[in-house]
Amino acid sequence: MEICYPYIVDHTEPGTIPYQFEYGLMKTRNILVTGGAGFIGSHVVRLLVNKYPGYRIINLDKLTYAGNLENLRDIEDKPNYVFVKADICDFATVLKIMQDYDVDGVIHLAAESHVDRSIVDPFTFARTNVLGTLSLLQAAKACWLDNHSVISSEVEKSSSSYRRFYHISTDEVYGALEMTHPEGIKPPFTTKASSGEHHLAYGEEFFTEDMKYQPHSPYSAAKASSDHFVRAFHDTYGLPTVITNCSNNYGPYQFPEKLIPLFINNIRNRKPLPVYGKGENVRDWLYVEDHARAIDLIFHEGKDGETYNIGGFNEWKNIDVIKALIRITDRLLGRREGEDDNLITFVTDRAGHDLRYAIDSRKLQRELGWEPSLQFEEGLEKTVRWYLDNEPWMRRVTSGEYEKYYEKMYGNR
Ligand SMILES: NC(=O)c1ccc[n+]([C@@H]2O[C@H](COP(=O)([O-])OP(=O)(O)OC[C@H]3O[C@@H](n4cnc5c(N)ncnc54)[C@H](O)[C@@H]3O)[C@@H](O)[C@H]2O)c1
Repeated sequence: MEICYPYIVDHTEPGTIPYQFEYGLMKTRNILVTGGAGFIGSHVVRLLVNKYPGYRIINLDKLTYAGNLENLRDIEDKPNYVFVKADICDFATVLKIMQDYDVDGVIHLAAESHVDRSIVDPFTFARTNVLGTLSLLQAAKACWLDNHSVISSEVEKSSSSYRRFYHISTDEVYGALEMTHPEGIKPPFTTKASSGEHHLAYGEEFFTEDMKYQPHSPYSAAKASSDHFVRAFHDTYGLPTVITNCSNNYGPYQFPEKLIPLFINNIRNRKPLPVYGKGENVRDWLYVEDHARAIDLIFHEGKDGETYNIGGFNEWKNIDVIKALIRITDRLLGRREGEDDNLITFVTDRAGHDLRYAIDSRKLQRELGWEPSLQFEEGLEKTVRWYLDNEPWMRRVTSGEYEKYYEKMYGNR
């Protein structure tokens, strides 16, 4: 059966490489990024397209409500960028793309990513996050390994060594940590990302790479399952894989169902700020560009079969993040700082809401030298400024379906 791509934007040609690299002066690679029109994916695609002009970056995205090509407008005409609209669950199309473009690296971010939606519709999460990952693994195995089902000789091992299936996962697979110190412990574990004034830990334990998986939400259960499949393909077939589990990301281009962009938009429009429970839940926040840098580093230098945690040692209670957002947004809008505190509205807590997440990312620091570049408040200010400056972007993504979704999620709480 002839498979046609439903929609493709390609300034390069399948099977060829950009002309300036054809004489082998620069190393070229064909990297398939899935979910590149989403929040984190768009930062990863931008970084790779700009940093590696000799690579062809193929962005495969289904463009669900969370995928937005506007996020990539600044690089969409670059000669080393290709966009293909496709579903990762469609194995035949995924396989064809991998063959046509001679893909030698996969950076897999496509997923359903919002916990609240997973509680309403777990099937979609199992389909995309588990079966979609399996479809990509099978395609990578078919392209890279199936002619040599067991990688036996040293030559074969080294020829496959530049191939890599990189699976992006979340800290939520580890479950929740206890909040043994609600008042906060001062850091002996300071990193550049932590602000001396605010950086506290709310418990003694952190998520490490060897921790038992204990997912609680349908989202984290589906991500955990996909992680297990990736490890199984490594252990069973020798597929060169790497997995990272990252903490909460924030920054530009995040769909405004997630806390930070949602609240900036609501503060601006003086709409209530629905805070789950008492806002005591603790999350570890990382600026999205720092995550993208880590992905680039691990894709190129991480070890096969390994897992790396990515986080900023930057724990914040939700209520403190929200108050900081109000202060910054008010100031940037010329209002009195804290003037909008009265928008905070406590709503019924999310079912099974994990209390505390905190990542121990020392393995990544120790082995690959990565560390976050931004203080949290610096990152928050940059983020608020971006959303305020990009009001038309916000207006476009919050029209239509979004309004219906918002009413369903928060209307009756
Ligand atoms: N956002 C975070 O804080 C965070 C933290 C840790 C890990 N992660 C992981 O990082 C990845 C990206 O997260 P995000 O926040 O950017 O998500 P997002 O929801 O913003 O983007 C997901 C992208 O995947 C695409 N997609 C969804 N289903 C697809 C399908 N079936 N086929 C092809 N494309 C599909 C969407 O169109 C969208 O562009 C996810 O795997 C997520 O689990 C996210």
